[in-house]
Amino acid sequence: MTNILGIAAMAVALVPAPKEQVWREGTCAYVEKDVRYVRDAALPPEGYRLEVTTGGITVASADDAGAFYARKTLKQLAAGDGGRAGARPSRGASGTPRPTIPCCVINDAPAFRWRGFMLDEGRHFFGKETVKGLLDQMADHKLNVFHWHLTEDQGWRIDIPRFPELVKYGSVRPESPMHGCRGTKGDFRGNGQQYGPYFYTADDIREILAYAKERFIMVVPEIEVPGHIRALLAAHPEFACKEGLPRVPCMFNGVQDEVLCAGNDDAIRFMEQVYDEVCTLFPGAYIHIGGDECPKKRWKECPKCQARIKSLGLKDEDELQAWVTRHFTDYLAKKGRRTIGWDEILAGNPGTETIVHNWRKPKYGIEAAEKGHDVVVSGLGMTYFSVPQGVPDDPFTYLSPKMRCSLAKAYSFDPCAGMTDAAKKHVLGAECCMWSECVWNEYDLAFKLWPRACAFAETVWTGGISDAQERVPPAGRDFADFARRMAIHRKRLIAAGVNCAPLE
Ligand code: ACM
Ligand code: ZN
Repeated sequence: MTNILGIAAMAVALVPAPKEQVWREGTCAYVEKDVRYVRDAALPPEGYRLEVTTGGITVASADDAGAFYARKTLKQLAAGDGGRAGARPSRGASGTPRPTIPCCVINDAPAFRWRGFMLDEGRHFFGKETVKGLLDQMADHKLNVFHWHLTEDQGWRIDIPRFPELVKYGSVRPESPMHGCRGTKGDFRGNGQQYGPYFYTADDIREILAYAKERFIMVVPEIEVPGHIRALLAAHPEFACKEGLPRVPCMFNGVQDEVLCAGNDDAIRFMEQVYDEVCTLFPGAYIHIGGDECPKKRWKECPKCQARIKSLGLKDEDELQAWVTRHFTDYLAKKGRRTIGWDEILAGNPGTETIVHNWRKPKYGIEAAEKGHDVVVSGLGMTYFSVPQGVPDDPFTYLSPKMRCSLAKAYSFDPCAGMTDAAKKHVLGAECCMWSECVWNEYDLAFKLWPRACAFAETVWTGGISDAQERVPPAGRDFADFARRMAIHRKRLIAAGVNCAPLE
C-alpha cells in the first residue's frame, strides 16, 4: 500500500515507486558517508527500510543488494527535481551546498526477482562503454538481470580463442542496411560500408561482469542454437545443412533458413565446446540458448538431419528441435547451469528445469507456467522497446513501423496477466528487450529505451495486483501518477546525458 502524506510528497518523484512511502514534516541534509546502515534479517531479499528524520538517515536491509537499492532511492530523493535544482540545498560547514531530503519512512522490496533488460549486439554492436552506461541506468532503476544477446545471423560478438574463425568471419560483414531503411528483404539498401570486426574479448567480458556485479546485476549470456546462427555458419559453413554458404554474416534482417545441421555430430560437438568456453567466461547460474524462429526447411531436405530423425525415432523436424534443446539443456545441466530458452522450445516438451522465456503471445507463458516451468516474460507488444513508441517527430527508424508500444502500454504490462495463482508462482519476472536491427548508436538506443524502460522497471519492481487485461494498468498502479513522476525523472535522465524520448 502506498500512503502519501503532506506537501513534500508532491515534490518527490521516485521511479520505480517504492511499495510503501510515508512523508513527514521536515528535511535532512544528505551526506552519503553519514548514512547509517543496519542489518535486519527480517526484511525481504533486496528490500530495505529507509528512515529519514531531521536527525539523520538510517537504512536497514537483510542483504547488500537491499542497501544498494536504498542508496539508489536516496540518489533520486537528493536529485529532487531534475537532477540540478535538487531539493533545496542546505550548506555544510565548508559552505558547500548539500542536497536535502524530505523526512520519510520508505519500506520497499521488489515484486519480482528477475528484472531484466536484453540487449541485442548481434545486429549492431554498442561496445563496452555503452554497455557500462546501460548497466548504470539499469541499477538506477533497480533492474538486476542483463541478458546479453551476443550471437545472431548478422554478427558473432564473443571471442572464443579456441575457435578464432568465429570472430574472424562472424564479427564483420561487408555492409549493413543503409541508415533509415529497415533492412528486410523488401526494404534493403546496402550502405556499402564494412561493419566490424566488432566483438568482445575475454578481458572485455570480465570487465563487464565485474562492473555488473558491483551493481548487483547478473549477466545472462545468450548463445543461440539452432537458429539465428548465420554468423557462426560464416565461420564454419561445414556445420550448415546446405553446402556453399557465403563466408560472411547475413546482411538482411528477418528470419533465415540456414540453421545448424542437427544431424551433424561434429556440429553438435562444436556447439558443446562453444558452451564450454562460454561457461568458463560466465560463471553465473544461467545460460540462454535462444531457440526462437528456427525454420525447418533445411532440415527437411538434409540427409543427415533426416537420418537423425530416423535413428532417434522422432516424429518430425519439430521433434528434432526438441532433441537439440534437450541435448544442450542436459549438457549445460551437467556443468551446473540452468538453461533458459525462447518459448518456441515449449513445443518440444523440455524438462521443467528449463526456464521458458515468453516473447510471443502471453498464452505461451501461461502454458509454460502451468506445465511447471519457471518463466521469464517479455511481451512483443509490451516490453519490446525496439517497436515505435508513437511520440511525435520521432527521428528514428523501426523494424516494425506498424506496431506501437506507447509509454502507457508499457506501463500496463503485467507479467502474470491471465495466470492462475499456481502458475504465477512460476513467474521469476520479466525482461524488456532492445533488438538492434534498426538501432544504430547509443542515442538511437536511449531514445527507444527511455522512458519506456522506466515504466517497465516499475512493473517489475513495484508490481501491482495482477489480473488485468492488456492496456489497463493492474490495480495499484496509476499511470497518471507515474506520468507526473516521470516528468520530473526525465529531467534527471537528460541531466545525466541520457537521450530520453519526450513523454507523450
Ligand atoms: C524473438 O523476438 N525472436 C525472441
Ligand atoms: Zn542438416
